[in-house]
Amino acid sequence: MLNELLFRFASWLDTFQSSTDLHEALYMYSWVESAHVLTLMLFLGMLLVIDLRLLGVAFKNIPASKIVERLDKPMMIGFIVMVISGALLFYAIPVRSTQSIWFRIKVVLLIAAGVNAFLIRKMTRSSAMKAWDNDPVPPKRIRVGAALSLGLWTLVIGAGRSMAYDWWDCTKELPYFMYWAAGCVNEMAAFEQ
Ligand code: HEM
Repeated sequence: MLNELLFRFASWLDTFQSSTDLHEALYMYSWVESAHVLTLMLFLGMLLVIDLRLLGVAFKNIPASKIVERLDKPMMIGFIVMVISGALLFYAIPVRSTQSIWFRIKVVLLIAAGVNAFLIRKMTRSSAMKAWDNDPVPPKRIRVGAALSLGLWTLVIGAGRSMAYDWWDCTKELPYFMYWAAGCVNEMAAFEQ
């Protein structure tokens, strides 16, 4: 049911001339993909510094709130550019992206990383932060959040990078479960005959 819905949505996006034009553009697609990759440095570079402070392993002599305050804006600008460039990459190749098991794993990881980031944001903007702001090693719940953040975003990058490889594309001979997990609706139908 969900696979059919996603496939129909992606096939509908594929009917737009601008989707094909973007994918077949001489330069634009590469520029959008370069923006997607290069912005990693801005977004995840800032996030790495914040998480290392919240883990209590670096910048220990600087109040955590100072680091969060200074790096939050560039980090959020990076995140917004990643989401916009990512959405354009998806729009350029909607069917292959939707039927990519790596893209599906990436979306699940993005949601988990987003929820974790929201919780860390809440904890680092509450008045309770004053109690540990100057502590070289923050409380355990903060450190767990920061460790989860580093782990989840690293997995997002891994899943994103793996999208380029066709190991488990619908065109391959795969077990039924993999066709289902990747949303290969036509191959599933052929399998059931
Ligand atoms: C905000 C966090 C995100 C991160 C850290 C991220 C990371 C990555 C990475 C590392 C790649 C591999 C680039 C390469 O080496 O070729 C990639 C590719 C891709 N990403 Fe993202 N991404 C993010 C968000 C998104 C979003 C929100 C979407 C779509 C809605 C998206 C869609 C894509 C697509 C379609 C590709 C494949 C491009 C290709 O192989 O041609 N990304 N992403």
